[in-house]
Amino acid sequence: MKDNTFTIVGLSGKKLLKGSIPVFGAKNNVLKVMAAAALIEGESTFTNVPDIADVVAMGKLLEDLGGYVKRDEHTLRVNAKDITGTVLNSALAKSMRASIVLLGPLLARFGSVTFPHPGGDVIGERPIDLFISGFQKLGAEFSESGDSYTLKAPQGLSGGEIFFRIVSVTATETFMMAGTKANAPLTLKNCAMEPEVVALAEYLISCGAKIEGVGSSTLVIYPSVLTPPAAPFAIVPDRIEAATFLALGAIAGESITVTGVVPAHMDALLDALRSTGASVTVDGDTVTISAPEVIQPIKLRTHEYPGFPTDAQAPMMVVLTQAEGESTVVETIFNGRLNYTTELVGMGAKISVVNPHRATIKGKTPLKARDIDGPDIRAGLSFILAAAIADGTSHIGNAHLVDRGYEAIEKRLASVGLQITRS
Ligand code: UD1
Repeated sequence: MKDNTFTIVGLSGKKLLKGSIPVFGAKNNVLKVMAAAALIEGESTFTNVPDIADVVAMGKLLEDLGGYVKRDEHTLRVNAKDITGTVLNSALAKSMRASIVLLGPLLARFGSVTFPHPGGDVIGERPIDLFISGFQKLGAEFSESGDSYTLKAPQGLSGGEIFFRIVSVTATETFMMAGTKANAPLTLKNCAMEPEVVALAEYLISCGAKIEGVGSSTLVIYPSVLTPPAAPFAIVPDRIEAATFLALGAIAGESITVTGVVPAHMDALLDALRSTGASVTVDGDTVTISAPEVIQPIKLRTHEYPGFPTDAQAPMMVVLTQAEGESTVVETIFNGRLNYTTELVGMGAKISVVNPHRATIKGKTPLKARDIDGPDIRAGLSFILAAAIADGTSHIGNAHLVDRGYEAIEKRLASVGLQITRS
């Protein structure tokens, strides 16, 4: 594919990158508020919206159902007044995991939704059992035909209580949305507490929803009349994007500052970076990092928020290839999310995957340039980081996967001095 490969001239371990990188709104918040807008017969305006492929795909999904979506730079307007469709476009829905959250608004508003198994990053099994069993508990009927699924609840969804056997970001969000139009209050237990989940609740509240327990593991959602929000809703800054840039700073930064972030959303990451010896300074909505002389090895364990985010595991892995000694990474959320390490080994890293959830990393190893394809958004970015410190020129393919979650990545990385181009 044209324009689908990044060419990166490695720094051969030199710490020369310097400057500021603005962080945009979070993919995992904007996609959910766009879906939530489908609950409302009127227009919502979102600001700080990243220009990424997944936002385009979610917009097309809403338009395909009859909605109106209009972008102007980093502002997005969504009006779901004329939505009548309840069948998700299969190709679009399969292109991203976030399409699953549309189940909540469509089923709650129209009593029916038909959808394929959602796609997204190739990071192991991504089941949807929590969604099916949850909606069945609220009185919906589930059926399967070919490769599409249908949920129906013509009399509306009952309220009641759902305990999530596994903490899930998208399941928490989906049922939070559905609860706003259920027939009775809905209590959700063992909820995800990610900042993006909180931001979705805040958007719904700005539309008139009544939700108790926001930010905690138990949410109570009361049926409410939702109306368009009076003010534009600002998408929460992308803490994962920030994590990626800070990881780059930890291995190649004379001094890199990320701007427009919420440092309080990044406690686990900042703690991990500081533990490696990096100098990290927080000032308002900026974080500045400088690479240490010697990177210390650490033990890292991904965990639901406020633990270390699984989406920042791959960038941090690259940092640990440069630590002096043995580090351990335990990936607790997804199996398959250590697969990309094979390519880092091909670049010279000493990473042993002990089992699908645990890797040990022995450093420090210089990395050499390679030509490889990124398998998903986060691993693709970690290959860019590895190429940035490698000896020689690398070509990283599948740029379109990186574009799903990062706006103009090559421009932003070039602005701090990395030699990166796209062709
Ligand atoms: C979301 C994020 C993703 C992030 C992940 C964990 C979006 C679009 N994506 O993904 O970037 O990596 O949270 O922070 O917001 N599970 C089940 N059954 C289900 C649903 C999930 O067993 O029905 C399991 C998953 O396999 C996984 C765990 O629950 O082991 C957590 O996954 P979940 O939080 O649902 O991830 P997503 O919401 O898909």
